[in-house]
Amino acid sequence: MQVKNIETIKTFPHSMFKEIFEQPQVIKNIIGEYVDKKRKEVIFNDPDKILKKLKKINRIILLGCGTSYHAALSGKYMFSEYLGIEAEIDLADEFIARKVKTDSKTLVITISQSGKTADIIRAVRLVRKQKSFVLSLTNALNSKLDWLDNFTLYNQAGEEKALAATKTYTSQILLFILITLYLGKLQKKITPMLRIKIINGIIRLPKKINQILKQNVNLQIVANKYYKLDDLLILGKNYQYASALEAGLKLKETTYMHAESFALGEFLHGPVAISGKKRPCLVFAPLGKNYKEAKEMIKKLKKLKKKVIVITTQGNRQLIRIADKIIYTPKTLNLFNPILTIIPIQILAYHIAVLKGINPDRPRNLNKYVI
Ligand code: BG6
Repeated sequence: MQVKNIETIKTFPHSMFKEIFEQPQVIKNIIGEYVDKKRKEVIFNDPDKILKKLKKINRIILLGCGTSYHAALSGKYMFSEYLGIEAEIDLADEFIARKVKTDSKTLVITISQSGKTADIIRAVRLVRKQKSFVLSLTNALNSKLDWLDNFTLYNQAGEEKALAATKTYTSQILLFILITLYLGKLQKKITPMLRIKIINGIIRLPKKINQILKQNVNLQIVANKYYKLDDLLILGKNYQYASALEAGLKLKETTYMHAESFALGEFLHGPVAISGKKRPCLVFAPLGKNYKEAKEMIKKLKKLKKKVIVITTQGNRQLIRIADKIIYTPKTLNLFNPILTIIPIQILAYHIAVLKGINPDRPRNLNKYVI
């Protein structure tokens, strides 16, 4: 795939680090490809084909594995919040095991950065046999997935050499935002005013990501403090549940830490029992829809004498006296928070891996994709 203008900074010691820093440019690439900045509209190639199909759709199923599944989860929440569509979501292998019946009115959205993951390919073969329309989000032009689907949106992220998905994850979430806007216009569920507001927000995203990247040295200091930890519990709600799951996977993959993620509300239904002093909690609490619940949980955890690390929005002073450590992300629309809040964790995971002497690009026992 053609990658436009991705800056190569030679001083990056590992691909993972470099790829984290490429995220502003990848977002710009996606904007260049799929956003009409003047008309404030989303543009997809071959609109007639996609439009004809989408008009008939009465069911949406989202499928992915690993990081791609977490991006799909954010997509599910967007469809629900902005379109009133309750999309189904599954891990590709579980979906196959359930022998799900689909038909020509089903839209199956498959997410796979590599376009090669065997579970995804098998799932696509299955639903194509059942005559369903398949829309794929992938970073790989001419991959197996690309050949099997009906319509592809590309991450525009360039090659991702490191095992851990970073720039492909945030670009997958942005593609979901664009699909939401596209369907929102088609189904008249998103007003032109809201669409313009969201598109303007997308245009500002690279700047906001750069603000987070500038915290690299601070995050290195945080990594120094916590890198010997064996256990971390991670909590988040709604979009931030997706961030919590992805943070857990990133930390496991690159640092071998036992990092376990929970939906915020679910944590009190059992898992809280394992939260001893040696297991700090990381809580995703950006300002926005679910901030209040996250703040209440942080207070509860502190009453239990737990160490709490918080990710919240710049300018929020309410947690200063409560949390043990606060990492800030720029103020944004809640819809963009799943893109912004994961970036400090990508950077932390990278530095922790390096401090532990792990090669973050090639951690043990893992492949970039499983075939
Ligand atoms: C796994 C990788 O094997 O595949 C994960 O270890 C990755 O990091 C998952 O997220 C899915 O890969 P893809 O290419 O289908 O998005």
